[in-house]
Amino acid sequence: MLSGDLYQQKNQVKIGILLILMAFSGAWFYYTNTLIVRLESHEEEEVRLYAESLEYALTSPVETDVNFFFDKVVKINTEIPVIYEYQGQYQSINLKLPENTQEIPAFLKQKSQEFQTTHPPIEIDGGFGKGYIYFSHSFLFTQLQYYPVIMLLGLLVFGYLAYLAFSASRRSEQNRVWVGLAKETAHQLGTPLSGLKGWVEYFKTDPDRYETEFVLEVEKDVERLETITARFSNIGSVPTLHPEPLAQHVEQFVDYLKRRVSSKIKWNVNNEIPAGKMIPVNRNLFEWVVENLCKNAVDAMEGVGELRIHLWEKAGQTYIDISDTGKGIPKSQWKQVFNPGFSTKKRGWGLGLTLAKRIIENYHRGRLYVKASEPGKGTTFRISLPS
Ligand SMILES: Nc1ncnc2c1ncn2[C@@H]1O[C@H](COP(=O)(O)OP(=O)(O)OP(=O)(O)O)[C@@H](O)[C@H]1O
Ligand SMILES: [Mg+2]
Repeated sequence: MLSGDLYQQKNQVKIGILLILMAFSGAWFYYTNTLIVRLESHEEEEVRLYAESLEYALTSPVETDVNFFFDKVVKINTEIPVIYEYQGQYQSINLKLPENTQEIPAFLKQKSQEFQTTHPPIEIDGGFGKGYIYFSHSFLFTQLQYYPVIMLLGLLVFGYLAYLAFSASRRSEQNRVWVGLAKETAHQLGTPLSGLKGWVEYFKTDPDRYETEFVLEVEKDVERLETITARFSNIGSVPTLHPEPLAQHVEQFVDYLKRRVSSKIKWNVNNEIPAGKMIPVNRNLFEWVVENLCKNAVDAMEGVGELRIHLWEKAGQTYIDISDTGKGIPKSQWKQVFNPGFSTKKRGWGLGLTLAKRIIENYHRGRLYVKASEPGKGTTFRISLPS
């Protein structure tokens, strides 16, 4: 009854949020990038000024006192690491040097090589041969470079955690609704059911009435109602699992289903599980799953086609494949079909597969998924259970 639109919309909202986030971080990167570019040219300018004043100081006649001016220029720069090399001798500012003074020349030589990867060295000619100025980025610059990345990562982690917390609380809420509703239904069905059972027993004591079609039919319906009540009561509590000859139960149950659907459906059960093999299950709930999957298969074939059930084992797992020759499921919906409310049927509630998945995965620790499907050709659902 609820169509796939709801899920389409949900996906669109997700894509929308993602786009906004991308636009936002794009703008952010752009903004910090312009800051970085400006800071970089500013830093280059500063070092160039330093280089020029150094050159000026070196080339000025000895009697001109340039120290006062030069000191000022040097003091402007408290951030950018700079190395001055002159004929194999190194001097530096704003660099943390090794404590052992003997290591300093090698250290500076190595640093000056590193610095060349960020900026080409500035050549100065002090009149007695060439010197070089190597420089790198200030701490502020480096920080600014990583800042947007760190912020974005933080934002993503935060968003992801918020999403997890939100969906966990939503899931536990859904759980409560399921369990509560199932319990209540079982409880409410219980009272009229025991009344009906009483009546059937009463009619049985009257030999004239007992064998009539009427009583037999009522008895069958009462049995069916009992099964339904037991299912709801099982899903409303923590169901117990018993070792059962599962394959036999499935075969029997399929026989029962067969009689209730169109005779134009060909049933084909292929059981490869050794007779008597016991598997821990809750029989009532498991039959409910098989019923839901078979009903969907029959619906998908619109009453004509072949329904195959294949039971087999491999590596400690039991597999049950339920395949039909129906209309198929587009790959984009293989996961969606398990969402509550997802239905393409006029009179569907879209709960059958949600319930089946809950029963297999929450109560039996197994898996239920679409194994294969091709539009127009058919679908295979696979149940796997730990043996
Ligand atoms: N074997 C199948 N072949 C093709 N489509 C399927 C098959 N099984 C399920 N679907 C698709 O998945 C949807 C959801 O199935 P689900 O059993 O959860 O709900 P429903 O059958 O529509 O309603 P109900 O609650 O009555 O079971 C179906 O409406 C159908 O579109
Ligand atoms: Mg269904």
